[in-house]
Amino acid sequence: MTGSLLLVGGSSEIGMAVLMQLLGPAPRQVILAGRMSAELRRNAEKLRDAGFPVSTAEYDATLGGALDDDALDKLLDDACAGHPLEVAIVAVGSMSATSFAEGLLVNGTAVSLLLQALVRRRPEQIVLLSSAAAVRPRTSIAAYSLGKQLADSTGLLLGRQSGVRLLVVRPGFVTTRMTAGLPKPPLATDPEHVARRVAAAVDAHRTVVWVPGVMGLAVRVLGLLPRKLLPAGWR
Ligand SMILES: NC(=O)c1ccc[n+]([C@@H]2O[C@H](COP(=O)([O-])OP(=O)(O)OC[C@H]3O[C@@H](n4cnc5c(N)ncnc54)[C@H](OP(=O)(O)O)[C@@H]3O)[C@@H](O)[C@H]2O)c1
Repeated sequence: MTGSLLLVGGSSEIGMAVLMQLLGPAPRQVILAGRMSAELRRNAEKLRDAGFPVSTAEYDATLGGALDDDALDKLLDDACAGHPLEVAIVAVGSMSATSFAEGLLVNGTAVSLLLQALVRRRPEQIVLLSSAAAVRPRTSIAAYSLGKQLADSTGLLLGRQSGVRLLVVRPGFVTTRMTAGLPKPPLATDPEHVARRVAAAVDAHRTVVWVPGVMGLAVRVLGLLPRKLLPAGWR
């Protein structure tokens, strides 16, 4: 792989770990898209220090442009100008949306439209950070789960229809700032473990990967148990 790599959700801990795994040797153009923040700028600096040319692009899933095909195409045209897009990683997600509607929008509708815009650019590989919650929605994070269901299904369908390789990644609990302060459940993992699983799945041209690997089975087993027997956070 020698074209550019784009990370949407340029401040994401898992997204950065995946990017670092897929990056290969410098120099290679990297584009970090997202809401401008100290974390995103730190990630850009870290990559520049390692010898990679880095550009940044503004992307906010709650703004109108995130729901407009023309605006998305223009965002990607500008962000990728002069650098054919080879790999795109979509790490946008939020469990702290201010409303149910925003949770659906940020995790679902916006990501679904973004995936379609990315497919139109025909990169070699797209990696979507979905979630185990897309397959087993939980009442405690309903909007997040429903949004992830939409994004996950969009990823699967586009992967089948478009001919662009699209990997849907379904982690369980990963220790990042998104889960800071939450009790750590069994099968919890970390961003580096997710990144290693993603790299292996990309090499193997897979379409879905669970992290950890046993999570898919665990979700199926949990689905067979009566919800009232489960701890509240797992229902
Ligand atoms: N941590 C877990 O346990 C876990 C488990 C399964 C799946 N995932 C998924 O993995 C991905 C990465 O999560 P993470 O753990 O690395 O958490 P994270 O560091 O909080 O990353 C989430 C990313 O989404 C971005 N984002 C949130 N709202 C946005 C908006 N309105 N517009 C644009 N970007 C927005 C954040 O940007 P800001 O910095 O601007 O907020 C950040 O870059 C997410 O899709 C998450 O749902 C995480």
